[in-house]
Amino acid sequence: MKIMEAVDGIKDKLMEIRADFHNHPELSFKEERTSQIVAEALREMGLDEVDTGIAKTGVVGLLRGGAPGKTFALRADMDALPIQEENDVPYKSQNDGVMHACGHDVHTTAVLGAAMILASMRDKLKGNVKFIFQPAEEVAGGAKIMVEEGVLEKPPKVDAIIGAHVWPELDAGTIGVKAGPSMAAMDKFEIVVTGPGGHGAKPHLTSDPVVAAAQIINALQTIVSRSIDPIRSAVLSVCMIQGGHAFNIIPREVRMVGTVRTLNEDVKTMLIAKVKSILKGISEAMGVEYEFNYLDGSPALVNDPGMIELVEKAGAAIVGSENIHQLEPSMGGEDFTYFVKAVPGAMFNVGSRDEKAGLTSQLHRPTFDVNAKTLTTGVAMLCQTALMYLDA
Ligand code: NI
Repeated sequence: MKIMEAVDGIKDKLMEIRADFHNHPELSFKEERTSQIVAEALREMGLDEVDTGIAKTGVVGLLRGGAPGKTFALRADMDALPIQEENDVPYKSQNDGVMHACGHDVHTTAVLGAAMILASMRDKLKGNVKFIFQPAEEVAGGAKIMVEEGVLEKPPKVDAIIGAHVWPELDAGTIGVKAGPSMAAMDKFEIVVTGPGGHGAKPHLTSDPVVAAAQIINALQTIVSRSIDPIRSAVLSVCMIQGGHAFNIIPREVRMVGTVRTLNEDVKTMLIAKVKSILKGISEAMGVEYEFNYLDGSPALVNDPGMIELVEKAGAAIVGSENIHQLEPSMGGEDFTYFVKAVPGAMFNVGSRDEKAGLTSQLHRPTFDVNAKTLTTGVAMLCQTALMYLDA
C-alpha cells in the first residue's frame, strides 16, 4: 500500500478531527475533552489496549501487529496555549484566551491518523506500535510523568520513539531534521537581592539592591558573550524584574527571574558557576545579600543519529530527498527529550509555511495556522518511519 495515497484517502476526516481539536483547545493538564476523544477514536479503531488517565490526562494506545517484532512508539502532545486566537476561520477557538498556537492539535490528529492507517494494515505489521498522547508539553511536565508512570516500560517495552513538530520556517510538504543536540535544555533561575532598605535621599546609610540588580543583569550578559566559546551556544535571559514600591524608598529587595538555554551539559555547568561568581562578587562589593535558585527544566533534546537516518529514509519516500532540510539546533525547549533519554528516539519538523495561503505566522502567535498538506505529510511520515523501523 502506498502510504501517501492511504493518507490522502482519509484527509477530509483528519481535517475534521483537527478542526474539532482547534475549536476546543485545552491548557496543560486540562486536556480532558481532547483525551476523551483520542481514547474513543483509538477504541473505535480496535486497538488491543487503550490506557487513559496517565499523567492525569495522557492516553496510550497499543496496536499489536500480525507477526511478532519490535515495538515502536509515536508521540503527540495535546495541550494548547493561553493565547487569544486572531484567525478568522470556521474552526477558530471557542475557548476564550486559549488557542492551539503551537500546532499540538495537528500533532494529536497526525498520531491518530497514523493509528488509523497502521491499524488498517495490522495483519501485515511485524511488531507493535504504541501511540502516546501526552499532556502538558508547554509547561514541560507531561512527558516526564508519562515516562515515570511507565508508558515505555509497560509490555511490550518500547524500543524506539519518534515525534513530529509543525514548523513554520519550512514550507508545507517539506520536513526538517537535525541529528544530535537539536533543542536546548530549558532551565529557570531566580535571584533575590536584599538590603536593609532606606531613604531615597540617603543612599550612603544603606545598601541599594536596585543598583546591585542593575549591575548583576549587565554582568550576567557577559557570560555568553565573554566566557563561552563563540562556536558553542547558550542563552541567558532575565525576563522578569520586580522591586520597589515608592519613589523615595530604597527597597529591601529586588527579584529577577529568567531562563538559561544550553545544548551541552558542560556549557550549562560552566554558565551556572559564572552566575554564582558574578552574584558573589557584585553582592560583596555593593554590600547586599543574595539568594540564587536554579531549577532544571527539560534537558537538551539529543536526537539519535540512527533514528534521524531512518526519518530521512522515510522522508525520501514521502516528500522526496530534495524536500528534506538539515536544520540548525533551536534554543527552544521540548519535553519530548524525556522519552529520548529513555529509548533511542528523534523528533523531526514538518513544514507548515504556505505563503500563497497567508500561512506565515510563527509558533506561539495568535495567527498561527496550518493547511491540509502539513497534516497529511505528518501522518504519512509517522506511518512510513514506523513501517521502516519494524520491517528492518
Ligand atoms: Ni509545541
